Amino acid sequence: MILKISHIAIAVKDLNQPVNFYKNILKCDVTKPHKYPNHGIECCFVHFQNINIELMSPITPNSPISFFLKKNYYGGIHHICFTVENLLSVRDKLISKGIEVIGDGVPQIGSRDKKIIFLRPKFCQGTLIELESDK
Ligand code: CO
Repeated sequence: MILKISHIAIAVKDLNQPVNFYKNILKCDVTKPHKYPNHGIECCFVHFQNINIELMSPITPNSPISFFLKKNYYGGIHHICFTVENLLSVRDKLISKGIEVIGDGVPQIGSRDKKIIFLRPKFCQGTLIELESDK
């Protein structure tokens, strides 16, 4: 079902400090920040050989990331994303096993321009899990 871990997402107050940390201090490959007004976030990716880190910050006060930062003052790990081969069949299999998908279950286009869904943390050891289509 799961092909690999795509990325680990870290919520931050703003992108300047973490971009400086990863790009200028750790000398990592960091993408240009991109705004997603529909989701109320701005994010960029830090590429590693085996995984990516998604840095996400809120651009509206009612963004889900704003709520996360109220509970986690310094920011922190927000979700883990798995790449799956057939998103819809994985979704249906999980639902048939009683795992809840957030929202209506219809895949949205995520920050990596791939179809995504999120699983409710209650069913995933308290961790928000994003499933991303491999295509
Ligand atoms: Co993500």
